[in-house]
Order: sequence, then C-alpha cells, then structure tokens
Amino acid sequence: MKVVTTVAELREAREHLAGPVGLVPTMGYLHAGHLALVRAAREACASVIVSIFVNPKQFAPHEDFTDYPRDLDRDLRLLEEAQTDLVFVPSTEEIYPQGFSTSVDVGALGERLEGTSRPGHFRGVATVVTRLFCLTQPDRSYFGQKDAQQTVVIRRLVSDLGFPIEVVVVPTVRESDGLALSSRNIYLNRDERNASRALSASLRSVRATWEAGERDARRLKRVVRDVVGGEPLIHLEYVSVANVETLEELDHVDSRALVSLAAVVGKARLIDNITLG
Ligand code: PAJ
Repeated sequence: MKVVTTVAELREAREHLAGPVGLVPTMGYLHAGHLALVRAAREACASVIVSIFVNPKQFAPHEDFTDYPRDLDRDLRLLEEAQTDLVFVPSTEEIYPQGFSTSVDVGALGERLEGTSRPGHFRGVATVVTRLFCLTQPDRSYFGQKDAQQTVVIRRLVSDLGFPIEVVVVPTVRESDGLALSSRNIYLNRDERNASRALSASLRSVRATWEAGERDARRLKRVVRDVVGGEPLIHLEYVSVANVETLEELDHVDSRALVSLAAVVGKARLIDNITLG
C-alpha cells in the first residue's frame, strides 16, 4: 500500500495503477461503513484508491471541523488490512492551493433536506469530490447510502459534468441495535448512545407502517415523531418523505420514496434514512 500526500506524488502513483480504478473518498476515522465501501471497490476493481481529507469547505463555521475525530495511524492500518493500493492524504493546501476560487454547485438538490440545516454543505462536498475525481481519475467511485442526499448530489454532478465515472452506492452499515455507523457516534455518551437507537427504530416502524398499506406521507412522518418523541435526549431536526431523485417532498408515496431524518443528540448531529418501494 502506497501513501501519498501531494498532488504530484498522486499523479505519479496513479499512472502505475492497473484499471479499472475504484475511488473511495472519506474524511477518515474509518469504521466498518467506510470499510464496506473499500471492500466493494476491492471486489470490483483492479486498483483501489482511498482518500482521507477532512474537507473544510463542507463545514459551516459553527460546525465540528476542528473537533472532527482523526486517527491516521489507525486508518492506515485498517486500509492496509483491506488491501488498499493507494491512500491519498492531502493537506488543505494541496486540495485548495492559494487562490483556489472555483466551486461546484448542484443548485436546488443541495438546498433541500440537509441543505436547509447546512447551507453551503453540498457545495463543499461537490467541490471536493469534483477535485478528487479530476486528480484520481477513477473508473468507479463508492459512496454510502447512509448519506443519501450526498449520493443524489454526486450522481447529478457526474451526469451534468460528464465524468466517465460509475457511481456505486453501498448499503448503510449498522450497529447490532440498528444505529447507523458514523464517525460522529464517538461524541455520544452512554445515555445518548442508548437513546439514539430510536432513530433507526423509528425508520423500521415507518417501513412496517408502509408495508401495512399506509401511503400518506404526513402519517408516515408522524410515526417517526411518535417513536423519537419518546426520547427526551433526542432533538429531531427534520423528518422527510421525498422523491428519491429530485428530493422534493411527497404527499403520497406512490412509487419509491426516501424517508430521511436528522437529529441532534448531545454534541452529535446524526442522520439516517431508508428507501421505500
Ligand atoms: P465520510 O463521512 O468520511 O464518509 C465517507 C463515505 O463513507 C461516504 O460515502 C459515506 O456515505 C460512507 N459511510 C459513512 N457511514 C456509513 C455507513 N454507516 N454505512 C455505509 N457507508 C457509510 O461523506 C463524506 O465523508 C464526505 O462528505 C466526502 C464524500 C468524503 C467528501 O468530503
């Protein structure tokens, strides 16, 4: 496994990789969710590149950029075990050199759901992912369903900008009690961690309600509010039932729908989702 930190080293190493090349972009502090992406890439690609970069452009000033958990030694051990070929760990200056001023904006898709609570977040994501695509030139890139809106935004930018890259979405990896793995779960104390089970439990109840025939979006959202409302440690920010491609809110679930939520639990802001249909 080769570890590079500069764009020049990356370009040089990239030239020697056999194709197809798979890219897994991450912000590090890796867990089994990230490793599922690496495994999927390993199985389908001749070479696997993983990037580790905590992207300042996708954090608002009041968010946890400085506190975001980091453990590069452990990440590199895990990536070595997962048979990664090339790890790119750039500094902020390598990704955004002096004078960098271009941004990639996917418009309304980035303003809904997470974009309402986190204005500019998806511009930051789209900009860094575009930059990583240009630098690593992958044939495929791997993203987690955990960040459902992110996958929609990335598919849009790949299609709009014409990148010859296949976007592969990997199912959400969960703890045994259902909590979606996230680097931010580290912020939870024991009580908060226990309470957070209610988030995925509420989505399972939505699925059961939908399977029993309920199609009214307001009543499906009510299920989440009822389950999560029983947990005083959880502050539910939003629950949405939306079209899986446009992310527009639905009144009725006639075909596929994305049910997503965001909640603040202690110092952590957690998101989760399921797809119906
Ligand atoms: P990060 O939060 O580190 O996540 C990296 C990738 O791992 C994303 O595609 C995310 O959806 C996926 N992932 C996280 N938790 C997961 C889980 N429980 N199951 C399956 N996949 C999971 O997402 C980002 O970084 C950044 O926005 C990035 C795309 C790297 C751009 O900066």
